[in-house]
Amino acid sequence: MRVIILDSAKDVAQFAANTIIDTVNRKMRPTLGLATGSTPIEAYRAAIDAYKANRVSFAQTVTFNLDEYIGIKEEHIQSYRYFMNQHFFSHIDIPLSNTFLPSAASLNEAQLHKNAHQYEEAIKKAGGIDLQLLGIGENGHIGFNEPTSSLRSRTRIKSLSESTIEANKRFFKNGEYQPRLALTMGIETILESRQLLLLATGSKKANAVKDMVEGPLTAMCPASALQLHQDATIVIDSEAADKL
Ligand code: GLP
Repeated sequence: MRVIILDSAKDVAQFAANTIIDTVNRKMRPTLGLATGSTPIEAYRAAIDAYKANRVSFAQTVTFNLDEYIGIKEEHIQSYRYFMNQHFFSHIDIPLSNTFLPSAASLNEAQLHKNAHQYEEAIKKAGGIDLQLLGIGENGHIGFNEPTSSLRSRTRIKSLSESTIEANKRFFKNGEYQPRLALTMGIETILESRQLLLLATGSKKANAVKDMVEGPLTAMCPASALQLHQDATIVIDSEAADKL
């Protein structure tokens, strides 16, 4: 595990964008694993700037997102599909048919299990993920793999912890329906990516970063599973590095 501490959140975003661009420019048919949350937004913005400056084309890129809320339609403003279109896909030349998120609109359990299985198959068919971008929850979650998630987990239904629901409340209007379930890639699915790049910024992430980097490998801090990966880079700003 490589840990890179940079001065500011802006530097973290630029580092992430450069890594994405390098991967896309190096491969004939690059496969990116993407993340939502507020942390990667600036990285997407920097990658969009690079696209506009003709430094990169995403025309051959295939993407798989980590997770999606269950019971929310794709066109809903709170869906992760909407988020990705708004913050990244609609600004670059990627065909939308190359962009995948777990299909989670259904509330039927059997259907969701089937969709989870199909998602794993689609990743395999694409040849696996070259570069997986990750954020980290304040409780150490990656994707929506909450504490106690099996380190061998695959894409599946996961209930969100109270603390995650609380942390993500800021994205929902007062009284608006907030999902308590998600379909998420599993920890083992994530670890199968050839390269991992986890971003964390701000003091709220300092404890989770410490547990991930210096703590024991444990299902209580799902991000600690990155210690097992051969090519995992953690890029953080000085605030998120405060407890190291
Ligand atoms: C959500 C996402 C995670 C993300 C985390 C942190 O729960 N499922 O993939 O890493 O939030 O988000 P933020 O970057 O907004 O702190």
